[in-house]
Amino acid sequence: MNYPALADRTAVVTGAASGMGAATARLLAAQGARVALLARRTDRLEALAGELTAAGGQALAVTADITDQASVDAAATTVHDTYGRVDLVVNNAGVMLPNPLADGRLDEWTRMIDTNLTGALRVIRAFTPDLTAAAADGHTADLVNVSSIASHVLFPNYAVYGATKAALTQLSAALRTELGPRDVRVSTIEPGLTDTELGGHIDNAELREQLGGMFTAMPALAAEDIADLIAYTVSRPRHVNLRQSVILPTRQA
Ligand SMILES: NC(=O)c1ccc[n+]([C@@H]2O[C@H](COP(=O)([O-])OP(=O)(O)OC[C@H]3O[C@@H](n4cnc5c(N)ncnc54)[C@H](OP(=O)(O)O)[C@@H]3O)[C@@H](O)[C@H]2O)c1
Repeated sequence: MNYPALADRTAVVTGAASGMGAATARLLAAQGARVALLARRTDRLEALAGELTAAGGQALAVTADITDQASVDAAATTVHDTYGRVDLVVNNAGVMLPNPLADGRLDEWTRMIDTNLTGALRVIRAFTPDLTAAAADGHTADLVNVSSIASHVLFPNYAVYGATKAALTQLSAALRTELGPRDVRVSTIEPGLTDTELGGHIDNAELREQLGGMFTAMPALAAEDIADLIAYTVSRPRHVNLRQSVILPTRQA
């Protein structure tokens, strides 16, 4: 896992407080990139930034709630004031809140749509001018959206989560038609079962148990596996777009 092309990059990683986001930030920083770490839990971000800086990397903890426009605007200002223009955005923050549709959990639907779709759009809005400017100057510029296998595969009780991820995958595809001609790569990463904190917010005991059973039934991916794919994707030559990748544990069909 050595990606020397990443040494000069300036990255924003959302959802960097845990799981795939933290692993991606670690790998990017280890390769020499400047990395802004965005999420809501300041203590987690500061601990990670401290760890990365102590290891000789460059990392900045930026507390941000992507469901809050003012918070994203303030985060963008902090990132720009510290690092200047960003050329790599990893839109990774997300929540997964399954329940039967018949339960009518408007609270969960709203939270998932506002985080997984509108939140991603807020981040895209904040940093697309950076990406197009970097590309216009001849630099490599990347927008990576972390979607899910749930955008294609149907899981009962995960309908709204799957819908947000299908929308994110579609958004990425559509954005390629606008940003590709401007030399900004847009890529979609669609992971399968990965061992992170994602299932920790499930409030339905049966569904929590069902998800736990999947982890018992097969060896899941680690967050580092996703980080490696993201780093590989964004370190290709700038005319090569690995536009959509599905990454699953070998035993997940
Ligand atoms: N794990 C899997 O099996 C799997 C499979 C396919 C796709 N995914 C996707 O992978 C992405 C990363 O998830 P993960 O598996 O690494 O789970 P995770 O450990 O729960 O990470 C999710 C991250 O998103 C952040 N976040 C949540 N809401 C936020 C908000 N409103 N504003 C800013 N940050 C927010 C969380 O930090 P704070 O709570 O501190 O804000 C956390 O760091 C998600 O988009 C998820 O849907 C996961």
